[in-house]
Amino acid sequence: MPNMKHWAIEDIQWDKFDPKLVDKKLLPVIKTASVVEHNGRHYVDYLNNIFADDVEFKEDALYWGDEEVQHGVALGKWAEMADPSFNFQKAFDDFADGYKLPLNTTKSVRGTKSGELIARCIVETGTSSLYTALAEATDEPVLKQICYNIAADEFRHYKLFYTYLKSYLEKEPLSKFQKTRIALKRITEASDDELSYAYYASNSIEGKYNRKLCNKEYIRQTIQLYKPQHIERLVSMVLKAIGYKPQGKIKKITAFFLIKWMGFKQNSA
Ligand SMILES: [Fe+2]
Ligand SMILES: [Fe+2]
Repeated sequence: MPNMKHWAIEDIQWDKFDPKLVDKKLLPVIKTASVVEHNGRHYVDYLNNIFADDVEFKEDALYWGDEEVQHGVALGKWAEMADPSFNFQKAFDDFADGYKLPLNTTKSVRGTKSGELIARCIVETGTSSLYTALAEATDEPVLKQICYNIAADEFRHYKLFYTYLKSYLEKEPLSKFQKTRIALKRITEASDDELSYAYYASNSIEGKYNRKLCNKEYIRQTIQLYKPQHIERLVSMVLKAIGYKPQGKIKKITAFFLIKWMGFKQNSA
């Protein structure tokens, strides 16, 4: 990965912002994403601990973290323009106060470094598809530009972790079953505290934090954005990360059922 970011905050054409084109329905998702992304710096510390003896990886992780933080800054700035009552710094501080990563560990929560890299690929699959879907869903030009820029970064991040995954699997092989289990576990973690608490902290939800309710709301609002083409790509990327053909029969069947299920969820929401 080249040692520089692919775009800067100043590259965004902020003066093109059009408040009339702000879709209020997207705001809670953007606010949630802004604080989670901005927390990327802490993930660098976590990855540094896990990959302590891999200088090259640690260097790449540093630049990766810089890009994630920039995603948070860009989304937070846009959300403040779209909703002047939103205070990005306060939302981030509230999130960081209530959500802590397991930083004091030298072993991946996934068991092995290969497992950690599979989990990273899953996260980048989720983010790349979400920002592509958001970019296509909005007519507001500044948000569109931000989301396309971020989506391009997330696809590159996937590639980066996938490249490391391939070389780590030679040293630390995992069976397809193990890989699938790690991927599925990471996918189900979308219902854990990170996104739910980020939704709570960044959207000034009244009352005490209720993970189940916050998660339900966040997932409901996110799922609405996904079109069949996003789901197809998402399935291909997950399958590739766990060692299946990205365009084979399994992909067709999985994407078919996932599209049906998401369509059902969208209609019942
Ligand atoms: Fe990101
Ligand atoms: Fe990323």
